[in-house]
Amino acid sequence: MCGIVGYVGAKEAAPILIQSLKRLEYRGYDSAGMALVNGSGRIDVVKRTGKIAALESALSEIHPKGTCGIAHTRWATHGAPTEPNAHPHTSSGGDIALVHNGIIENAEALRSRLAGHGYTFASDTDTETVVHLIDRVWADGMSLEEAVAAALARVEGTYGIAVVSVRDPQKIVVARRGSPLLIGVGQGGEMLAGSDAAAVVALTRDVVYLNDEDYAVLTPDGYKTFHLDHGEVRRSVEHVTWDVGAIEKGGYPHFMLKEIFEQPSSLRDVTRGRLLEESGDARLGGIAAHQFNLGRVRRIIVTACGTSWHAGLVGEYMLEDLARIPVDVEYASEFRYRNPVVEDGTLTLAVSQSGETADTLAALREARQRGAATMGIVNSVGSTIARDTDFGIYLHAGPEIGVASTKAFTSQLVALALFTLHMGRRRHLSVVQGKEVVEALRRLPDQVEEVLALNDQVRALAEEYMDCGNFLYLGRGYQFPVALEGALKLKEVSYIHAEGYPAAEMKHGPIALIDDDMPVVFLAPRDPVYPKVVSNIEEVKARGGRIIAVVSDGGSELESKVNHIIKVPQTIPCLLPVLTSVPLQLLAYHMAVLRGHDVDQPRNLAKAVTVE
Ligand code: G6P
Repeated sequence: MCGIVGYVGAKEAAPILIQSLKRLEYRGYDSAGMALVNGSGRIDVVKRTGKIAALESALSEIHPKGTCGIAHTRWATHGAPTEPNAHPHTSSGGDIALVHNGIIENAEALRSRLAGHGYTFASDTDTETVVHLIDRVWADGMSLEEAVAAALARVEGTYGIAVVSVRDPQKIVVARRGSPLLIGVGQGGEMLAGSDAAAVVALTRDVVYLNDEDYAVLTPDGYKTFHLDHGEVRRSVEHVTWDVGAIEKGGYPHFMLKEIFEQPSSLRDVTRGRLLEESGDARLGGIAAHQFNLGRVRRIIVTACGTSWHAGLVGEYMLEDLARIPVDVEYASEFRYRNPVVEDGTLTLAVSQSGETADTLAALREARQRGAATMGIVNSVGSTIARDTDFGIYLHAGPEIGVASTKAFTSQLVALALFTLHMGRRRHLSVVQGKEVVEALRRLPDQVEEVLALNDQVRALAEEYMDCGNFLYLGRGYQFPVALEGALKLKEVSYIHAEGYPAAEMKHGPIALIDDDMPVVFLAPRDPVYPKVVSNIEEVKARGGRIIAVVSDGGSELESKVNHIIKVPQTIPCLLPVLTSVPLQLLAYHMAVLRGHDVDQPRNLAKAVTVE
């Protein structure tokens, strides 16, 4: 998963592809590679881990030639960031090359079927199965596009791909399902492909966006677009007028906002292929592959930092509530230097977006030394924590560029829900209860979409409150960690002092602070503690506090008690944090922008804290 570029025309492709890749650098990646169809009937493939500059210097030594090529920056999803796992991947004879963004869900099944036909694999990626599949279905007399279309009919999951072959040279075939892909219509006999417009704007601003299930053929003479089911189709040419900076951010002014708005799709990705509707269970390949006996687990210690620690707290509530297993959530930095009790049957679960946080890693190693089994919930594939744990669950949220974590947080919540479901179904959760969770998870991305529609309302609130110097966030049960996370987001990007508290604890201290200049955000969705939260709202109102309430179904009885209501859809209590945290992300974002701060790189903060 990350950036795709392609070029076919009259010029040498390599320098053009490098320039285009560089325009996609902002997306983050861990390796890069290029395939050029050279004039003498060969494909030259060069790949390097690390930066595009490493690929560029390798190319400058080898000088591969060719006027048709594809290139890729990879951000690992299946398999560590190594050279064999970098794209392009080639068929065994080296005569087809392919780059891919997305996730092939039936990769395991394809891999064993292809192995049965004698195919061997050079990488751990899901992508490689597709290039061998194209080779397998390519019958005599077929064009490249026919072979690609025949292969895609057997592929499940998401993809944006670009393919070249010496069997049908001077041609690029691209296709998409669920992962963006566009064509750049160049001047005078050159065509480009890209996973976003930034890849092609240096040469053309005329682009054709492919729809899901579309594929297209690019040659120096032009392009043709097809739909997998409907044959040739027409797709209109659009003229891109945004500047490059705006294109990189997909038209959003900041990465943070882009990532907040990506959540419906990142949540689809974390559940993709993992929901078992019939058995009310979760399929977790990263656990199954290690055949770890979860029945041995008597206690779970979640260890993490920052936003990931907040996700861990929600996980504690989920696992105790639905899987009936005792859980402790520890700040990694505290755990590593205490003398923690790690009994037999302890599973240590590290939650980390980057997979590189020094304290989390050290806590994990400390726990392992004391005999605990280790598990990771990590976004960055092949990161140190991912490699250092016995097994785990990847988030597949894609790179998160904004320093303040948003989409990784909600994906962590969903990954924890999947793990809870998996554990629960092996312990006390009935199939009926399991199905209820599966159904709620399935609906969640659309519900997040509904919450995002509240953006204008939240911005108006930010305008009203932007000059406040302090904020209090209150919640109970599942919403207590959401209160902590809401306060943290505000602190991180808007530099406004904010505290998160369990709502009932307020009267043991913070209530003394309540006045007109200390707005209170109440998390009050419909869940078992809702009536209790309403009482806490009364307490604040009685002291003249200004209240913003995030509610779900109902909540109308609060209208007379609070100043503002933000209404999110209803779901089961353990998933409500996903929905209630989104407006708090938006509130922090808008406050920061209105106060003129650099939201993507707040002062003093780092995206990955790799030092103690
Ligand atoms: C830094 C980031 C936070 C993140 C924390 C833990 O402080 O700014 O957004 O929550 O590290 O990072 P991790 O990568 O382990 O989730």
